[in-house]
Amino acid sequence: MKTLLLSADSAGIEKAAALIKNGFLVGMPTETVYGLAADACDPEAVAGIFAAKGRPADNPLIVHIADMNMLPEIADDIPDLAYKLAEKFWPGPLTMILKKKPCIPDITSGGLDTIGVRMPSHPAALELIRTTGCALAAPSGNISGYPSPTKAEHMIRDLDGRISAVIDGGECSVGVESTVISFENENTVRILRPGGITQEQLSQVSGEAIIDPAILNDIQEGQIVRSPGMKYQHYSPAARVVLIEGAYSDFCQYVNGKPGDNVYALVFDGEGDELDVPAISYGCDDAGQAHMLFSCLREMDERGAETVYVRAPEPKGIGLAVYNRLIRAAGFEVIQV
Ligand code: TXA
Ligand code: MG
Repeated sequence: MKTLLLSADSAGIEKAAALIKNGFLVGMPTETVYGLAADACDPEAVAGIFAAKGRPADNPLIVHIADMNMLPEIADDIPDLAYKLAEKFWPGPLTMILKKKPCIPDITSGGLDTIGVRMPSHPAALELIRTTGCALAAPSGNISGYPSPTKAEHMIRDLDGRISAVIDGGECSVGVESTVISFENENTVRILRPGGITQEQLSQVSGEAIIDPAILNDIQEGQIVRSPGMKYQHYSPAARVVLIEGAYSDFCQYVNGKPGDNVYALVFDGEGDELDVPAISYGCDDAGQAHMLFSCLREMDERGAETVYVRAPEPKGIGLAVYNRLIRAAGFEVIQV
């Protein structure tokens, strides 16, 4: 199969919509990361998503909608708080776990009776959903376990020849995936995956936004897994990632004391001169770091890095999402200096 690179204009989107209507898979730009899209109600097409990515069958897909009328078609028992959050944060990087309607096949929900629903804000994604007239199932468009794609070329690198097309909608503005939440009661949500919408933003609308312990820690034996994605190693480049917490001077001392072949550092803007190893910088504030993180991890592999020492971000605001992706990329190898 040859993977087409389509432009994000009406001709490109119509071509992509026709492919999806015929059961094929298309890379879709969103404001968070690129997704690999298919008709959420077509079990064979959805099976193709799992096969193309090498994704475990018990890890459910997010279902994307383009307007509020689509929500009650796919979800049931929708709490009032979900409508309030949708009004504030949709279209945008928030995924809500809701009870699913029977039209969503079990393969899409990984066998669960719930689905994650999100209305993305990228105009090409909204246009694609409207043109197909379908809710679109779309996990991040990477090979399972690898950093998510934030550019069309990342999707081509991972999935060329395995999917029909990718719509090139430019670089993703947010750069990390959506915040995934479930509902605890009428005024409390639980954050299962931190992302583009922060805990502070959520708690302004709901009374409380609890951070699930699995966000900052590895799953322990016997612990409740509220989102299957928590179980799997994620976001890892081929290089070994080591996350280092502490002051910049201590970071430099630590890294300079660990010489070796193909050792790299991932640091903040304006840093790196004091290091004996090559460094790439990934921004200076939480939003900038979110925007750059995945493309920097991919760049490390392209440069042939074997070990990457990473300056740990502040786990605040969207920085919590950056930190969460990095501890997983590092397989929880975190060093305090
Ligand atoms: O920003 C995003 O969310 C991107 C773009 C493409 O929309 N999508 C994305 O999908 O990151 P994916 O499949 O890579 O991550 C979805 C996460 C997984 O961790 C999955 O376990 C969780 O959401 N999830 C999906 N449905 C769920 C459900 N019914 N219950 C609990 N967790 C769910
Ligand atoms: Mg993913």
